[in-house]
Amino acid sequence: MSLILSFESSCDDTSVAILNTDYEVLVNLISSQPEHLDFGGVLPELASRLHMKNIMHMTQIALQKANTSLSEIDAIAVSINPGLIGSLIVGLAFAKALAWSLQRPLITVNHLLSHIFANYIDHPDLKPPFLALVVSGGHTELVDFKSATDFEIVGKTLDDAAGETFDKAAKLLGLGFPGGPIIDELASGGDAGFVKLPNPLPQKDNYNFSYSGLKTAIRTYIISQSPEYLQEHESDIAASIQAAIIRPLISKTIRKARELHHRQILIAGGVAANSALRVELLQQAAKYDIKVFFPSLKLCMDNAAMVAAAAIPKFKAGLFADLSVNANSIKGTKLL
Ligand code: KG4
Ligand code: ZN
Repeated sequence: MSLILSFESSCDDTSVAILNTDYEVLVNLISSQPEHLDFGGVLPELASRLHMKNIMHMTQIALQKANTSLSEIDAIAVSINPGLIGSLIVGLAFAKALAWSLQRPLITVNHLLSHIFANYIDHPDLKPPFLALVVSGGHTELVDFKSATDFEIVGKTLDDAAGETFDKAAKLLGLGFPGGPIIDELASGGDAGFVKLPNPLPQKDNYNFSYSGLKTAIRTYIISQSPEYLQEHESDIAASIQAAIIRPLISKTIRKARELHHRQILIAGGVAANSALRVELLQQAAKYDIKVFFPSLKLCMDNAAMVAAAAIPKFKAGLFADLSVNANSIKGTKLL
């Protein structure tokens, strides 16, 4: 069995992991960057500098924790797109230097795909075909997998992402960042019908998403209420916002899975940690005899274990990157 050392540095989390090719996680270290909290969002240059500061030390600790050494590593994996370009370059340059000095193959992966492959860590027997819903701070995409290497995007957001909408709503309510987990917790026990919010692109044959109108509606509602009223009805407002964000995710994913005759749905990305999304998707899909898979909570967030998981099929197929490969911040099907 081979060992893969992997890096994730596409946004504000530095992560280093070691997995064997049976998807077993030997170590998965994640260092988040609380330094961004004062700014209410991620500051790209600060993120790159913190990756640069953390990555070496984290690699040393990862090797120690996995009780292994660099000489036992068989391949180096790293995410190269999409993401913050300065942040991606730190991970890629470090991974290239290791691959070159150790004379081991370099495997590059798409960050979005790696979120999907996080499911293989919890469910190593998972087999395509399936429909994957990737929902994070920057992505809202439906990906149709015919096989592990044959897939296409069949729906995507036309503007903002679902996670961004959670974050924006929490910011407007003065709740902090990232907003998803805070709203998720506040929403429990709240009345999801308390605030009437729009349901964008409701047409049955439309599998794209749109969150900019919903963001505006949430903003309009919040600024028209007094701080006391918002505080008093915090839980109901959070539940209403959460329901409006996840409603199109659930209905469109199930409709598309049925249209494509898929019996399996995978969800991935930070928003896949949302408790209501998990429960409601499971319940709705069960009505059509469709199984729903999601990664454990820790593996929903950005982490390097998912990067290694996405690299495993490439490792087995000998799909290695040239050391001249560059990082890319662009989102898109071509780059998957
Ligand atoms: O995948 P991720 O860690 O980073 C990106 O690639 O964007 O996702 C972060 C996003 C944030 O927008 C955060 O608010 C959201 O995932 N998130 C959640 C939950 N946990 C994280 N959204 C809803 N409910 C949650 N429990
Ligand atoms: Zn992500």
